[in-house]
Amino acid sequence: MIRRLICCFLLIAPFTNSFAQSVSPAQQKKMDAFITNLMSKMTLDEKIGQLNLEAVGFDVTGPIVSKNVNENIQKGNVGGVFNTYTPDAVRKLQEIAVNHSRLKIPLFFGYDVIHGHKTIFPIPLGLASSWDLDMIQKSAQIAASEASADGLNWVFSPMVDIARDPRWGRIAEGNGEDTWLGSQIAARMVKGYQGNNLYDTDHVMACVKHFALYGAAESGRDYNTVDMSERRMYQDYLPPYKAAIDAGAGSIMSSFNEINGVPATANKWLMTDLLRKQWGFKGFVATDYTAMMELIPHGMGKDGYAVGKKAIDAGIDMDMVSDIFLDNLKKLVNDGKVPVSEIDIACRRILEAKYKMGLFTDPYRYCNVQRAATTIMKQDYIDAARDAAKKSIVLLKNNNSVLPLKQGGSIALVGPLADDHRDMIGPWSGAGDWHKSVSVLDGIKQLAGSNVQINYAKGANITDSEWLLKRLGKDELSFDKRSPQEMIDEAVAAAKKSDVIVAVVGEAATMSGEAASRSDIGIFPNQEDLLKALKATGKPLVIVLMNGRPLTLNWENDNADAMLEAWFGGTEAGSAIADVLFGAYNPSAKITATFPQNVGQIPLYYSHKNTGRPYAGDFVDRYKSRYLDVSNDPLYPFGFGLSYTTFTYSPIKLNTTSIKPGQPLQVSVTVSNTGKYDGTEIVQLYTRQMYGSVTRPVEELKNFKKVFLKAGESQVVNFTITSDDLKFYNIDMKYTYEPGDFKVFVGTNSRDVNSADFKLTN
Ligand code: NOJ
Repeated sequence: MIRRLICCFLLIAPFTNSFAQSVSPAQQKKMDAFITNLMSKMTLDEKIGQLNLEAVGFDVTGPIVSKNVNENIQKGNVGGVFNTYTPDAVRKLQEIAVNHSRLKIPLFFGYDVIHGHKTIFPIPLGLASSWDLDMIQKSAQIAASEASADGLNWVFSPMVDIARDPRWGRIAEGNGEDTWLGSQIAARMVKGYQGNNLYDTDHVMACVKHFALYGAAESGRDYNTVDMSERRMYQDYLPPYKAAIDAGAGSIMSSFNEINGVPATANKWLMTDLLRKQWGFKGFVATDYTAMMELIPHGMGKDGYAVGKKAIDAGIDMDMVSDIFLDNLKKLVNDGKVPVSEIDIACRRILEAKYKMGLFTDPYRYCNVQRAATTIMKQDYIDAARDAAKKSIVLLKNNNSVLPLKQGGSIALVGPLADDHRDMIGPWSGAGDWHKSVSVLDGIKQLAGSNVQINYAKGANITDSEWLLKRLGKDELSFDKRSPQEMIDEAVAAAKKSDVIVAVVGEAATMSGEAASRSDIGIFPNQEDLLKALKATGKPLVIVLMNGRPLTLNWENDNADAMLEAWFGGTEAGSAIADVLFGAYNPSAKITATFPQNVGQIPLYYSHKNTGRPYAGDFVDRYKSRYLDVSNDPLYPFGFGLSYTTFTYSPIKLNTTSIKPGQPLQVSVTVSNTGKYDGTEIVQLYTRQMYGSVTRPVEELKNFKKVFLKAGESQVVNFTITSDDLKFYNIDMKYTYEPGDFKVFVGTNSRDVNSADFKLTN
């Protein structure tokens, strides 16, 4: 009977490989009929089972792991599984669902594929620094190709949380502080993962996270409270989620935080009014890991029964790991507390996702061992990772053109991360094989070969704090048992016999990402001791940073001759760093999160408001918005990054100084490469509305262009602005523009810009 039932599904299912993400009315009708038919055969338990997501397999990415999974799958109690990959492992679990559960409904398989699956790309904050939307999309496409070859069909990415607090370790996973750029990247990531057709086995379903506002956790402490005005939400924090949804994202993950008193996972305004009614989202919403269970300590209800009701009422479709839906929904329905229609809606959304991925046609379509063998970490993908890594490296300083290094003489290569393989692939690189990553030492050897003599010394551990090392997982760091002084002495000796020092310092991978907030975001004292001892040798000091957040780098900025922000660059980080060090690639990246001078300035971001008492930088300006002990300036402003060459900008030319709604304002500048090297410049355009019905930021990014200029070459760079670009949430929370006075800025970063005035009239 059951076999007949499945045969019957297969006959009615419209499984064509042209099944697109945005379905035609005919396809929608077929899908609806298929799912209606299937649901008519499902018991309430089986429907609830579809709403359950279990963690099983290779990784532990949260506080608890699901139990009795095989038995639960067999009973039809599981809709999807995460943390299991490889075609064989996935097949084994899928077989239980397909051969042993009553209705044989296939599972989907998710995983935290954040910046690559096996071939690891730079952390998202690094990728964003490239401002290279095509390359970022390609990185997601490659991640999708590898993940889907490895049995997966759902990735918990992109993470699009705007973050303006570098204490928060998860700033590493997103695109930085800017709403406009963050929205562009969010859409491209979704396109990269999902392609045009979810049915196509080279793509996976995206899960946009963490909905919503997780990046605004108070004090940068993970999982902490978010309290935010409606205006700031709509203006600054919500657009990237919306952009990802508009790009077709199939699913969304609820965030851990509360929003103005109601945790996201129980927040009906967020999950239903905003997401469904205002934005028209059609996919499904899964909670974050045990987020439903966490509604109890949040204070939303005393038990699973109470919080399960709040979550389903709010509009949550799938429960990640908490088992609260599984254990409580049936009783809630039977007690008349939850209408069965809420469960039907959620179940339908999950079945639709499975249908779109073609799992009812062939539940094993992502389980092809042959394909995995030929796809995963293929040379093209490794090359793309190297390309991405070099395009993500930011040159923060370069006095007297210390860089690029010449391929000759000797280099003291020192620092805890100089020969690291493990940390350099960064946080959230679960499936990444760090054994295959290229360290900086490897990269330099490969590039410079025997032309350069390398004097290597580790010089320091990441930290000397025993407690922290344990917390970071000692085995994840190759901890050197020598005394700090012994290690420094060895490094100084290496420096003394070398022409130049390259010190690779920073954070361990586990110091950013989830549960990795820091209250002090400087280089650890023991590493700074090393840097100071190296500096004392008088040899040119090049600092290469690996880290997952903006750091406070005052000493480094004052004392290094050159400094590269290499982030956690992924599998090919070492090759890419060598490319940049020796000038095989001229750095072009620009930071997308402000680097503060000290933690007390946080939150510090370029698009701040002016205040009624803006500080003009004059010492006697007493009653102004300022600190006594530090200027208001960042160490490095948003959009900052140097090149081995120099670029100059002409004054801005406008075609007119007054536009009407819909009319274009043509903005042009001539950018010239006035240095010795060919190079790429990221030309940035910002605007400011001078007066409005509400106060407006001093600058807002509206566009950019990446231009390649040969040494000595100039190019006119054109932008167009229309009233659409000037829209914002006005006093009535209407998204519109207001006629008035504006400034347009064009420049090499948010601080160093030229400006021009224009008007928008009625
Ligand atoms: C918790 C994290 O917040 C989320 O980003 C991740 O996708 C899940 N765990 C699953 O591992």
